[in-house]
Amino acid sequence: MLNPIQDIIVAIQNALDLYSIDIKVNIQVQLANQAKLGQFQSNVAMLLSKPLQKSPIDIANELSTILSENDIFVDVVASKPGFLNFSLKKEYFDDKLNELIRDPRLGIPVTQEPKTVVIDYSSPNIAKHMHIGHLRSTIIGDAITRLLTYCGDYVIRQNHIGDWGTQFGMLIEHLVENNFDPNAIDLNNAYQTAKKRFDSEPEFAKKAKDRVVALQSHESQTLDIWKNLVKASEAHFSDIYQSLGVLLDEADIRAESFYNPKLKPLVEQLDQKGLCHTDDGAKVIYLDNFKDRHGKHLPLIIQKSDGGFLYATTDLAALDFRIHELQADRIIYVVDARQEQHFAMVFEAAKHIGWRQDNPELNAILFGMVLGDNGKPYKTREGTTVPLASLIEEATQKAIEMVKSRHPDWSNDQISPIAKAIAIGGLKYADLANDKIKNYAFSFDRMLALDGNTAPYLQNAYVRIQSILRKAKLTHAEAAAGNILIKSDIETDLACHLVQFPKEIFAIRDSLALHRLCHYLYKLASLYHQFYEHHPILSASPEEKSSRLSLSILTANILKQGLNILGIETIDFM
Ligand code: ARG
Repeated sequence: MLNPIQDIIVAIQNALDLYSIDIKVNIQVQLANQAKLGQFQSNVAMLLSKPLQKSPIDIANELSTILSENDIFVDVVASKPGFLNFSLKKEYFDDKLNELIRDPRLGIPVTQEPKTVVIDYSSPNIAKHMHIGHLRSTIIGDAITRLLTYCGDYVIRQNHIGDWGTQFGMLIEHLVENNFDPNAIDLNNAYQTAKKRFDSEPEFAKKAKDRVVALQSHESQTLDIWKNLVKASEAHFSDIYQSLGVLLDEADIRAESFYNPKLKPLVEQLDQKGLCHTDDGAKVIYLDNFKDRHGKHLPLIIQKSDGGFLYATTDLAALDFRIHELQADRIIYVVDARQEQHFAMVFEAAKHIGWRQDNPELNAILFGMVLGDNGKPYKTREGTTVPLASLIEEATQKAIEMVKSRHPDWSNDQISPIAKAIAIGGLKYADLANDKIKNYAFSFDRMLALDGNTAPYLQNAYVRIQSILRKAKLTHAEAAAGNILIKSDIETDLACHLVQFPKEIFAIRDSLALHRLCHYLYKLASLYHQFYEHHPILSASPEEKSSRLSLSILTANILKQGLNILGIETIDFM
């Protein structure tokens, strides 16, 4: 058992047995708020006060006397109003660390009960640039995928690309009239021009509507142009995914058009089951939990009065497919918080229809907005959304300058991969380090800073350890072979944080609170810097040198694994 909290709980339980207390209490142990009294604390004495009819501080005092006998502790002290504070012995950590460094899984066994997890993320729309909201979905979804895969789940990625809808009528018409090749033009611009024409040229609007009919009836010229359009957009998405180093590829695309043939039969099936109502000519589903303040149903519209289907219809078809064909145990949607109600209704509808017999877990992982320095949604100076490609380009340029200023003698080939890792790492980490639901302010300078809670700071801690290895002229395996013996208080702090890695990962797997992993790694890097400043490594005695090298390697391994889960590369130089 690597988790010190578990050991402390066992120690407390033993003390209660000795004390002959057989009251059932939920023993909880946490990291201490005040590090000076100990590393961990428990409120168990306060929970016992009432049933024992005794003051919490008296109970804490008595328990601390018994617990101090336990040889994993240096000290157990009671503090007001009735806390127990635990300091673990330095030697307590030795075995744990030596076990952890020898475990390639770093204390996180592959789960015995793997789930099939479907995750819907990125999901941009064709003929439009991916924007910063899609960046959030892509980064967060990718990290969740990596996390669950590492823990042993079977993860199926679904890129629910918006590639079908009436808006493509006008775009195709515009392309045909101007003889445009979708591969050779900026589709985003063409889309905007088509939209302007649609609104101002009645003649064009009429033709665009005919195109919609042609597209829906799969007329061959129209369908061919549409296919080219999709291909061109997907190539643009692929480029972005590649530069971001995310796992998504073509095989993960299951676009809206895939569900198109399923929509009509789906609505018919729901109609037959008597689940549909007519509301203002539209076909809708009523859900008990969705009513306005006058008690009137908020309808989930699944078919418009003109027969057209909607975003919600496609999402119901997708859910049907994911539950029944992909056999998902858990389905995760990484989407903008503004879609909260939509997904709550779709999930509720699935229950209403009777699709959730086996109770697949449905999670909408919601994220907030990206803001500019003015506190408003992040935009270009002209007020348009910032295309992702230029964002990545700018981050990379800045990272190149940063590396160049540190190493004027390096060649471009040397600089390029390192700058890329820093830029992409910085971009991802800035997104992941805050609680997802919160808005965050976008700033290149902050995300690329070497100090603070940033990717470059963590990457730099890793680089420092690699540089020690190079100076020691040891391979990774040789340096990891030493016996760890914790001596100083600073080492104890580092050790205590290292052994909590598995517990953190388990908690994050359940909550998907990725910012917690960022904070864990940030603290790890800070503790390591502190250790490094106060403990010479290469000039230490042979025993200390080998212990400190191993401690460094263990830190590097955990940094690397943690960053890997976040989709961030480690580098050996910077
Ligand atoms: N294409 C949508 C957008 O850009 C996101 C789709 C999210 N996934 C879904 N199944 N609805 O906002």
